[in-house]
Amino acid sequence: MPLIAFVSPKGGVGKTTLAANIAALIAARGHEVLGLDLDPQNALRLHLGLPVRDEEGFLTGLGSGSSWRAALRHTPYGVSLLPHGGVEPRGAMELTRLLMDRPDLLVEPVREMLADPHRIVILDSPPGPCPALAALLPMVDLSVVVLLADGGSASLIPQIADGRFLGRGTLATRAAERSVLVLNQVELEAPLSAAVLDCAQATMGSRLLGVVARDAAVAEALADRRLPVEVTGSRAAEDLSLLAEALLGRLALPPPGAARGHSVLTDWGMRR
Ligand SMILES: Nc1ncnc2c1ncn2[C@@H]1O[C@H](COP(=O)(O)OP(=O)(O)OP(=O)(O)O)[C@@H](O)[C@H]1O
Ligand SMILES: [Mg+2]
Repeated sequence: MPLIAFVSPKGGVGKTTLAANIAALIAARGHEVLGLDLDPQNALRLHLGLPVRDEEGFLTGLGSGSSWRAALRHTPYGVSLLPHGGVEPRGAMELTRLLMDRPDLLVEPVREMLADPHRIVILDSPPGPCPALAALLPMVDLSVVVLLADGGSASLIPQIADGRFLGRGTLATRAAERSVLVLNQVELEAPLSAAVLDCAQATMGSRLLGVVARDAAVAEALADRRLPVEVTGSRAAEDLSLLAEALLGRLALPPPGAARGHSVLTDWGMRR
């Protein structure tokens, strides 16, 4: 049932990295997880180990009349995935217009996905506002806002706290209640990074869901077609595991079905 959105006013902050790792970690716990990529960069599939040559997708197929189930892919991490689909710049602009005119094309299938009480839908989004995210926002149970521990991000924390980044007025207030912050690429030994963490703690309180260390293993893992959480001893892997725990703690979930035997994240799964 729950819909969790990885969002940010900024690009390149780790939305896709976090969405992929958290999805895999939650699936390793035996939950049914469906990844939904709203970003024309179409990158979530790469993090989750799908072949580069497969350019088919769910968003790019909107309006064609085919079911969302036809676009579903099964990843090696036990996460089902609806990739965005490969798209040229003009196609991306046409899709933006289609979604502004016909948000129901996206809302209806997502409503269907969420009708299963055992399914957790995790969506990855492009930076900033977009019509796909705007259409789904009223259905989002938890927005995980990702920022870096730098000066530019620190200036945005008040907007995250009061929900202005997700809307205005009552809508913003409602969105704020359902949003949490994650600081990514934190380096405690760097004074600026530590200061931004202090600011996030003071402003967000318990809505600071987690912190992920800057760790070269993250980029290396992607180049190696693995997830950082598979890299034993990585600082980011430990933080990501704690983040998945914290996220699960925020959601009132029915108990997972039988744990999947095929998960490659057995180390984490065995720590239950
Ligand atoms: N904790 C981390 N430590 C080191 N590098 C990281 C960390 N998290 C993410 N990165 C790196 O930062 C870059 C951006 O990450 P990612 O693509 O996940 O961000 P994004 O917010 O999804 O970007 P976009 O806005 O373009 O969709 C990638 O090269 C990724 O490997
Ligand atoms: Mg991304």
